Amino acid sequence: MKDTNKKVITITGGAGGIGMACAKALSDYRLVITDYSRQAVDKTLDALSALQIDAVGFACDITDEQAVNRLKDFTAEQGQFMGVVHTAGVSGTVRDPEKVFKIDLLGTDLIADAFFSLAQAGSVIILFSSMMGHTIPSDEAYDETLRHPKGKNAYKQLALFIGGSSDRMYDFAKRGVQLICRDNAMRYGQKGARIVSVSPGIIMTPMAQKAAEEHPERMQRMKEMTPLRRNGQPEDIADVVKFLLSKDARFITGTDILVDGGMLTQLTKNNLEK
Ligand SMILES: NC(=O)c1ccc[n+]([C@@H]2O[C@H](COP(=O)([O-])OP(=O)(O)OC[C@H]3O[C@@H](n4cnc5c(N)ncnc54)[C@H](O)[C@@H]3O)[C@@H](O)[C@H]2O)c1
Repeated sequence: MKDTNKKVITITGGAGGIGMACAKALSDYRLVITDYSRQAVDKTLDALSALQIDAVGFACDITDEQAVNRLKDFTAEQGQFMGVVHTAGVSGTVRDPEKVFKIDLLGTDLIADAFFSLAQAGSVIILFSSMMGHTIPSDEAYDETLRHPKGKNAYKQLALFIGGSSDRMYDFAKRGVQLICRDNAMRYGQKGARIVSVSPGIIMTPMAQKAAEEHPERMQRMKEMTPLRRNGQPEDIADVVKFLLSKDARFITGTDILVDGGMLTQLTKNNLEK
């Protein structure tokens, strides 16, 4: 039953590395934990329950518009809507550029649209980009398509720029997340709500572990290049997310927050092999 005293945050990808760290950092809220499989959601709820964190679960494929709308309705039933932490995503290691497009870009657009109806003063939507999104320059040849991934031929149009590479599609999709964040700032702002994207560098979660297994030398090189000389931990991101949801971040919207230990300063065309 809806308890309007409960402040509710929905975490997509809640079973993942960053999602779980965010859940632990946001223990003052009632959490809606959502992920692709019911089994993964239940496992996460068990772990959170052991920490006495108030959480309920909902399995949802974030590429399915109807399922995302059901997630929004479920969230509304839990109490006072305070925001979404949208961490669900895949990396290029899935070796399927269309899957990367659908999950990382289309899914983000669906979340930003569906939750707009719940947005109210003080609520915040946090999207997940990546430092790699910053490596794709602004270009009118593809930016319009990145902004509108629901468009009929959006995937086909973007496929022209990625040479069949799912890693490259990931980088494009993450630029698209930043554009979607900017494009939504005005309408969210008119409701007194904020929308921000976070761009992690290399963060040691299952996603990064997989990339490390596939490209160990590249990962080692990137770690050595990082000014802070270490990879990130999920808590490095969760603490920033907690800040962005708080009143301390009340004048931050429509922008991207880079949390990469300084890595992007070292990434240039010359030293990043794709
Ligand atoms: N870990 C990093 O180094 C890193 C770097 C840059 C950006 N990011 C971004 O941060 C976010 C979180 O990454 P992470 O490292 O925690 O990854 P992760 O793999 O640990 O977690 C991602 C979660 O998303 C879920 N998911 C995937 N497809 C889904 C779908 N269709 N519907 C619902 N859930 C789905 C997965 O089941 C998983 O639990 C992602 O958007 C990722 O691109 C991560």
